[in-house]
Order: sequence, then C-alpha cells, then structure tokens
Amino acid sequence: MKIAVILGTRPEIIKMSPVIRELEKKQENYFILHTGQHYSYNLDRVFFEQLKLPQAKHNLEVGSGSHAQQTAKILIGVEEVLQDDTPDVILVEGDTNSVFAGALAATKLHIKVGHVEAGLRSYDRNMPEEINRILTDHCSDYLFAPTEKAKTILLGEGISENKIFVTGNTIVDAVHQNLEIAKAQGNTLSSLNLAPAKYFLVTLHRQENVDDPRRFASILKGLDKVAAEFRIPTVYPVHPHSLRRMKEFGLKPENITLIEPISFLDFLQLESNARLIFTDSGGVQEEACILGVPCVTLRDNTERPETLEVGSNILAGALPDKILSCAGLMLNKENKWSNPFGDGRAGQRIVKTITEGN
Ligand code: UD1
Ligand code: UDP
Repeated sequence: MKIAVILGTRPEIIKMSPVIRELEKKQENYFILHTGQHYSYNLDRVFFEQLKLPQAKHNLEVGSGSHAQQTAKILIGVEEVLQDDTPDVILVEGDTNSVFAGALAATKLHIKVGHVEAGLRSYDRNMPEEINRILTDHCSDYLFAPTEKAKTILLGEGISENKIFVTGNTIVDAVHQNLEIAKAQGNTLSSLNLAPAKYFLVTLHRQENVDDPRRFASILKGLDKVAAEFRIPTVYPVHPHSLRRMKEFGLKPENITLIEPISFLDFLQLESNARLIFTDSGGVQEEACILGVPCVTLRDNTERPETLEVGSNILAGALPDKILSCAGLMLNKENKWSNPFGDGRAGQRIVKTITEGN
C-alpha cells in the first residue's frame, strides 16, 4: 500500500508529525506532498527541522493568494502529483485550504481519503475553515474523529458509521512526544525575561478577527486592558498575516510584547508555563487544555466544545470588557480538568486503520 501525506501549513505539520513518525517506524511506503501554502521559515521549515521530519518529496509552492486562487492552485498541483505518484490512500489533517483541495483532488481520482481531525464544527459558515471541514469530511473514506462528540456530529450528517474511527487527537501525541524535549531545552522564558506563571500568552491570526479593523482593534484593546489590570507581561508571537493587518490598520498595542512566530518546542515552553492563554487558534485551545493552562478564546464560537465542557476554556468574543471579565474568571479557575482529546496514541491508530483495515 502506498500512502501520501498531504500538508501545507504550520498546524498540519505539527499534527501530522505523530502520523509521519508512525509511518517511518512501521517502514510503510509513503511520501509527503507539501502544498507550499505556508512557506516562511518560521511557519514551515522550522517544524520539519525541529521535529526531525523527512523532507517533502513534492512541494507545489503555491504560496499565498485569495481563497479561490490558492485552493485552485493546490487542486491542480495535487492532481498532477497523484496521477504521477499514484498512492492508494491520502491523509490530510484539519481544515485549511490545503486540506480541502488535497481531499477533493484525490477523491476525484478515486484515491481513498483519510481525514485526521474529522467531525469538528463551529456552525459558523463565515469561517473558511468551517467550509473546508464540512467538504473534506464529505469527501473522505476514513474519518478519524478525535472524540465521541465529533463522531456523533458525523453520524448526524449521514456519514456511515463504518467510515468513522475515534482515535483521539494527534495533538496529544505531539505534546507528549515533545514536551520533555521542550522542557530540557529550557531557555525560551529567560530569553524573553519571563518567569513561570507570571505572564500571559497570546496568539491571534484568524481571518474573521484580524481582517476586520474594528474587531482586531477591539481585541487588542481588551488584551491591553488585561495586561494593565493584572500587571504582568503579555507576549504575542505574531502570525505574519496579523502583523501585516496590524501595520495596515495602524494598530499598536501598548502593553503587549510582539515577537516573531516561534518554533514548536519554544511555543510549548511558553504555553506550559503561562498563567493564562488568549487565542483564536484551534490547536492552541487544545494544547492549553492538555497542558492544564486556562484559556480565553477570542471568538464567539469554537469547534472544540470539549474544552468548554471540561472547563479549561471560555469564549470571550471581541469586546474589551468581556475579554477582561473572562480573564478574571479563568484566573480563578482550578486547573483540575482531565484531557478529553485522547491518550497520545492517535497516530498509531490512524496508521493501523489504513494499513491493516478496520
Ligand atoms: C491558514 C489557514 C488557517 C490556519 C492557519 C494556520 C486557510 C483558509 N487558513 O491561515 O485555518 O489556522 O493557516 O496558521 O487555509 N503568510 C506569510 N508566510 C507564510 C504564509 C502566509 O507571510 O508562510 C502571510 C501572507 O501575507 C498571506 C497570509 O499570511 O497572505 C495568509 O496566509 P494563508 O495561508 O492564506 O492563511 P493563514 O492566515 O496562514
Ligand atoms: N505554534 C507554534 N509557534 C507559534 C504559534 C503557534 O509552534 O509561534 C503552534 C502551536 O503549538 C499549535 C499550532 O502552532 O500546535 C497552531 O497553529 P495555528 O494557530 O497557526 O493554527 P490553527 O490551530 O488555528 O489552525
């Protein structure tokens, strides 16, 4: 059996790393097809180097563009590679344009599609990721649901049960595989002059937050208020898309330290030692929950409701006073929840399912 792992962005590289490691360990016949959606060193290569992943065999180098341009370029490029390199099954992870275009190209060629992290829904169709998730799930032959809740959602959409496999989320594998290494490396905090549990960590990059000048300004104002109220440093590794928008809109947060996006091991150190995390990222909501750090989500909804249920996360939206009050609530939270995203063996289950059958 020949397997193609199709990926294109930071979270896909991180969340596919346990699957790739398992494919290597089992000496499976596979290759990596990188779409090139992310191409800056600190959104792409740094993760291959740090997580010691094999090079992509193919890189489409599609780069940035409008949704249609980017999706179309990936679709055309993936089709060419799959016609030439003929895998039996492709694997995609998550909800980006690379994921949907990869899945669509493969299914039209009658190549089986495995979707890692299937069944997530925010029920907000303004988010490009929601469209990508729904369409990818409905193109897929193997739906690797991270939780029972995700499986229930898929069943509710008429997907047959024999295609759905509850595996846990590969982010648990990635955190377990890398946290000790990150801790041993241990210089990220000191290089930023931060002390454990005495700083806030922010990530914010989603289109619906940063492309709207008023909403982006409102969130930054809320974070500024939080930093001023609790008088501890706030650090924000800024995605290049957000930085571009900040400059374009003339936004200059006063109490927040902006830094470049950082490597996964550095980021794990910052997350695991933070007093509180503010984010609109899917992966960061999960990691905060896994690491036992309370999280304030700067969105009106989440496709990770398990984090709300266990109490690790709260939805704050974009209004400054709400962000401040949610921060106050989460600072008083006892972080005694248990991780709902699995036991860290999702990668093994995914590879076993596609190579050995159900
Ligand atoms: C994409 C995903 C989003 C995911 C995020 C992970 C879609 C629709 N969005 O958003 O779901 O959470 O990746 O980080 O697929 N840029 C660079 N260097 C890069 C890549 C992008 O500077 O390597 C800048 C460019 O200005 C580009 C902008 O970021 O226009 C947006 O990039 P894009 O890939 O379209 O979306 P992301 O915001 O990264
Ligand atoms: N991350 C990282 N460096 C950073 C910010 C985030 O390595 O500076 C990692 C983080 O640990 C998580 C992933 O990037 O695993 C989340 O990616 P992102 O927020 O870009 O995408 P999303 O999860 O929202 O799709």
